[in-house]
Amino acid sequence: MKSLERANNIADLRSLARRQLPRPIFDYIDGGADDEVTLRRNSSAFADYELVPDVLNDVSSIATQVTLFGQQVRWPLMLSPTGLNRMFHGDAELAVARAAASHGLLYSLSTLGTTRLEDIASAYGGPKVFQIYVFKDRGLTSEFVARCKEAGFNGLALTVDTPVAGNRERDRVNGLAIPPRLTIKSLLSFALHPCWSLPTLTGSKFDFANVSHRVDALASGPMSLFDYIGGQFDRCVTWRDVEWIAAEWNGPLAIKGIMTPEDARHAVASGATGVMISNHGGRQLDGAPAPVNQIRDIRDAIGDGPDLICDGGVRRGSDIVKAVALGATACSIGRPYLYGLAAGGEAGVNRALTILTGEFERTMILAGVNDIARLERRHVRRRHA
Ligand SMILES: Cc1cc2nc3c(=O)[nH]c(=O)nc-3n(C[C@H](O)[C@H](O)[C@H](O)COP(=O)(O)O)c2cc1C
Repeated sequence: MKSLERANNIADLRSLARRQLPRPIFDYIDGGADDEVTLRRNSSAFADYELVPDVLNDVSSIATQVTLFGQQVRWPLMLSPTGLNRMFHGDAELAVARAAASHGLLYSLSTLGTTRLEDIASAYGGPKVFQIYVFKDRGLTSEFVARCKEAGFNGLALTVDTPVAGNRERDRVNGLAIPPRLTIKSLLSFALHPCWSLPTLTGSKFDFANVSHRVDALASGPMSLFDYIGGQFDRCVTWRDVEWIAAEWNGPLAIKGIMTPEDARHAVASGATGVMISNHGGRQLDGAPAPVNQIRDIRDAIGDGPDLICDGGVRRGSDIVKAVALGATACSIGRPYLYGLAAGGEAGVNRALTILTGEFERTMILAGVNDIARLERRHVRRRHA
């Protein structure tokens, strides 16, 4: 794992993941929708903000704890839900959850994860959130709410930006579609990565572990499961469904995929305790604004009470300092920990979190701020070209 230790930043972990994975799998993690304009802007928009430091404050120790989904976390970062983790490393979601716990951070499990929510709950004592969808089959959504209560999840994140799947062209080019149509180039890439291909293809059963029991025709092969999931995304979901889930769950609930102050207000009025400003990491609506640019207006719209999580584009700890100064409670990350997972399982996720923790703390110290509660808007300034 020497190479992991030599990774100085998230970009280095991305390079390691690229080497480790067959190209179609790396592109599945790394890619975005259409021209990937939003994917790029999510990160580059952070550079539009300058940090304006204070000096001669005692920064010998810094207080970084915040409360998210009602849980105390060590510093303002959360691991976003991502599906299909077993495709990136055999240790899958459990490796990510364990690394999150050892860093005192909040973990979220995707509905489309490859580990059962009950298995996460029994293996993992740290704070945890389940990412839920309103499916066409409302009974399945209801069942998830009940299972999460039973298993002791602390919160739900309801994803609302997927009425249809985004147009991910890298996946089309690689033939990573449903059903798969792998090209010769893709097949060659799998053959050239036996360290990934053999354990993944021969390891434990690969499926959407949380929903497979609902598929009557499962015996007819894995594609029926993909078909079932694909068919469950519903274009008729409305704020009424948010009210319904908020009432059924009756606990911390964030709406993931909010981009405007109006929708953020609507979310809180419908019973949500928080919002995740998110464009799904640039994987859905290409052209959507960068989350960091929406923080100020959304915080002003909902006031100080609700959790406000800036999701997407974070590649440096300093990005998180900027987001919190603008009014976010915390940031959340997807690809940065997935690059780590692909590069080295749990050790790789740990490396990603260690890198970001170090960068975050150093930025706080250099900005002269010794308490996260004292990070204010005056510490960031929008740069004009
Ligand atoms: C490979 C991959 C799978 C994802 N799967 C899900 C998912 O199942 N549910 C969900 O709400 N978001 C999913 N997301 C989006 C993430 O939760 C998050 O919004 C996004 O990764 C944030 O952007 P970042 O990767 O720049 O940090 C996924 C993202 C990636 C990269």
